[in-house]
Amino acid sequence: MNVIDLRCEYARNPLGIEARAPRFSWMLEDNRRGQTQTAYQILVASDPAKLAEGRADKWDSGKVLSTEQVSILYNGATLVSRERCYWQARAWDGEGAPTGWSEVASFELGLLDPSDWQSLWLGHPAGFNGQGLYFRAFFNLDKPVARVARARAYVAGLGLYEFYVNGVKATDHVLEPAQTDYASRVLYTTIDIGALLREGRNIAGAIVGNGWHGAPKLRAQIHIDFTDGTSVVYAAQNTGMGGGTSWMVGTGPIVANAIYDGETYDARLERAGWCDPAVEPISGYNRKEFWVVAVPVDAPAGRMQAQPLEPMRVVQTLTPVAIREPAPHVHVADMGQNMVGWVRLRVQGARGTTVTLRFAENLNDDGTVDQGNLRSAACTDVYICKGAGVEEWAPRFTYHGFRYVQMEGYPGAPGLEALLGCVAHSDVATRGQFECSDDLLNRMQRAAVWTETGNLHGLPTDCPQRDERMGWLNDMTVRAEAAHYNCDLNRLHGKWIADIHDGQDARGAIPDTAPYRMGSRPADPVTMCYLLVPWLLYQHYGNTAVIAEHYEGFKAWVDYLTTRSSDGILPFSYYGDWSPPIAEATVRDGGPTPISAHTPGALMSTGYYYFGSKLLSQMAAILGKRDDAFAYGALASRIRGAYQQAFWDDVKRVYGSGNQACCAFTLYMGLATEEQQAAVFDALVRDVEAHDDHLTTGNLCSKYLLEVLSAHGRHDLAYRIATQTTYPSWGFMLANGATTIWERWENSKDTSMHSKNHPMMSTFSAWFYRYLAGIQVMPNTIGFNHFAVKPHLVDMSEMTHASASLETVHGRIESAWQRDGDELRLHVRVPVNTTARISVPKPSTHADAGVSIRESGQLLWDKGAIAAPITGITAAEEDGAWVTFTAGSGEYDFVTTY
Ligand code: BGC
Repeated sequence: MNVIDLRCEYARNPLGIEARAPRFSWMLEDNRRGQTQTAYQILVASDPAKLAEGRADKWDSGKVLSTEQVSILYNGATLVSRERCYWQARAWDGEGAPTGWSEVASFELGLLDPSDWQSLWLGHPAGFNGQGLYFRAFFNLDKPVARVARARAYVAGLGLYEFYVNGVKATDHVLEPAQTDYASRVLYTTIDIGALLREGRNIAGAIVGNGWHGAPKLRAQIHIDFTDGTSVVYAAQNTGMGGGTSWMVGTGPIVANAIYDGETYDARLERAGWCDPAVEPISGYNRKEFWVVAVPVDAPAGRMQAQPLEPMRVVQTLTPVAIREPAPHVHVADMGQNMVGWVRLRVQGARGTTVTLRFAENLNDDGTVDQGNLRSAACTDVYICKGAGVEEWAPRFTYHGFRYVQMEGYPGAPGLEALLGCVAHSDVATRGQFECSDDLLNRMQRAAVWTETGNLHGLPTDCPQRDERMGWLNDMTVRAEAAHYNCDLNRLHGKWIADIHDGQDARGAIPDTAPYRMGSRPADPVTMCYLLVPWLLYQHYGNTAVIAEHYEGFKAWVDYLTTRSSDGILPFSYYGDWSPPIAEATVRDGGPTPISAHTPGALMSTGYYYFGSKLLSQMAAILGKRDDAFAYGALASRIRGAYQQAFWDDVKRVYGSGNQACCAFTLYMGLATEEQQAAVFDALVRDVEAHDDHLTTGNLCSKYLLEVLSAHGRHDLAYRIATQTTYPSWGFMLANGATTIWERWENSKDTSMHSKNHPMMSTFSAWFYRYLAGIQVMPNTIGFNHFAVKPHLVDMSEMTHASASLETVHGRIESAWQRDGDELRLHVRVPVNTTARISVPKPSTHADAGVSIRESGQLLWDKGAIAAPITGITAAEEDGAWVTFTAGSGEYDFVTTY
């Protein structure tokens, strides 16, 4: 067994963390089956050399008898600001044999105390809201670079910034920092600038735009530690950095920048060498008319927080698939994919030539771009050439959601190389892969991944293109699970839960959007993602930090809802099962709204109030808060009783109106009595059939519809709904050219609510993983330490294989099945230190026939019983249409034959 992939605070070798007691995790690798960890030891030292000698001067956990390998809290000597530590771990395997020590990993703390910040916030004396500002300061390094042990810049710029040293951008991050409520928190980045320093004169520079803030401001502080033990801090106090030149500020080529509207760049105003000390500083760019002394400006009220999530980056580039000329000198590029980011323009033109780029998801009939659905967002970038040969440019402080780019004023006929699509979003790791024999489902899956990742910009947004881009909580209640199957959102969602918490008021009420910019406070109770997301972080990543940190906030929200409830019923609702097909909509002022006419808001609100109370009780139990666990469990039972009283229709034998949403929601949440369940399920099936196997649900209940049908034995019907290509369906979107999932079931370019890239509607992706491939979380587990693999099969003629993988904190889970004639093969990978319940499907035609199952060539199951013991498999049972084995770690290849 080996200990690998060490993480601290859920990141590899993080720089600038905030936790004084960081959490450690690792993975185990072992080729033997059925392996577990029985003990571990962690060493933390101030120097890797000490670790090599086995001296852990910060913490030696000693041998701890435990199977835990995720979220283990540091419990050593007190750590201080900027402290850098090295650590390693070892484990003991199932037989009690120790592994070798892991490789050494590191972590470094950021500026933990407000007093660590000696730099002021600086701005332009004239404010300049709207233009990009350029900041720079000289600082002197009076020792050779070789004697620099460590050099860090701690930087925050509002709204958005780029940081430079000696003319070089110091990171590959874009759109930094992630958006927060600046009155609560401002995120700063810790940057290793060691490689950019030179002896003598250096220049620190920053370009700062408006982002979500307003007039640009900057706070930057540089710390350099030398190998001789001395150190120097260059703090911006506007008397200069360490006695050198003051921070100066000036305007430049970014003459306009706005998140929604776009950026205008006049290359004629560039100041080449603006932060390059090699360029003669006194003449040219140091001239008075360019630079003024930056002035201290009001600090944002929020505290400085070390950026706790992955940065945004350009993660992929796309070349246009075609460029057409729908009108003279108007060229429209088709990127072939609805993407989020911007384009890098390549152009050669006379000085002053102006190229305008308009971004859109739709085209007009004449082939020009249709920006109607962007509402007030201009989504237009402008570049003015300086006339210096081939010029290349991309904006810095805006982003767009688009498939088409209209170029106006481009000199001559642009070739495909005139534009390069830069896909930019939070650079989170891919977590899952899903693929199957059905091309439509594969295309839906690809669209779901584009939709989810295109809406990760330091927070999960509802859409990336129009004048919105908000962290809507109602959407997340269903979006989260699919999102976590596809992407590692442990840190990004952890940050966003803090955004919600920042928006929570003294009554306990949370806002509809976080950071709070739109909607109401109190939020619609369907925003139960405030509790569900932390619960998923716990189940999926073993993340205990978010639950521990925000428990009081969760409790305050549930308690607030109690004050708004009457006899267990929560009557208020704004959105409910939002955006169902238009025929289901409530009509107001003569027109349809996105509110469902047939799914009562109070039913949804009360159901989520129940769900939230149950989650809170489970979290309380994890935190050892027994009284709360009991009290909220009891509250949940009372709400369930009230729901049954209020919404059960004893004549129709359904809940609410008995439409698909009411039935699926009630069953998914476990709100029907056992005796009512069959009736509710029958009503659900009847309603689906009455709609010709199409859905009638909105953003929330579409998820529950598929899951409930599959879980209750009508997987075939779920599959029918999922693979429809006629309205309303996901296939209808794809049949109409979608490459990302739409906000509405209707195909419209309407101006109000027709985003073409809206992750609330791509919840089917979780159903792919959970039912088609069968990878499911089990109750009372953490970080997938015990899970199920239970593939659900549909008719042979429709699907012959499906496979999925999921990178968990314990390692990769795999499930892949393939049907060939009368034979079914199932490959499963179970990570070390986990166990799985693996259900091998019996094809329906043979459900009752005696099935025999071989594993890696050996007969395992025959005539309803284990044929011979096989390493790794500890139990087996026949379970309806499946034979279920309990298995320890390892790779398994099952084959059923008849
Ligand atoms: C957002 C949706 C959200 C809705 C709630 C819309 O503007 O785009 O994602 O569900 O508002 O009102």
